[in-house]
Amino acid sequence: MVVCHCNAIRERDVREAARSGVDCPIRAYAQMGRRPRCGQCIPYARELIAEERVAAA
Ligand code: FES
Repeated sequence: MVVCHCNAIRERDVREAARSGVDCPIRAYAQMGRRPRCGQCIPYARELIAEERVAAA
């Protein structure tokens, strides 16, 4: 599933970034060489990252 349509970032990319230690969408996108544009995806990306961090704790 695509999380960020502006950057074609998939859910699994965001989850992978979170598992590598990234704690916010901006940093996750930066790790992929991208940055938010419209910002619409940020709340959902934030949720995904939080889920992964809870799962890892
Ligand atoms: S959908 Fe992610 S920045 Fe627009």
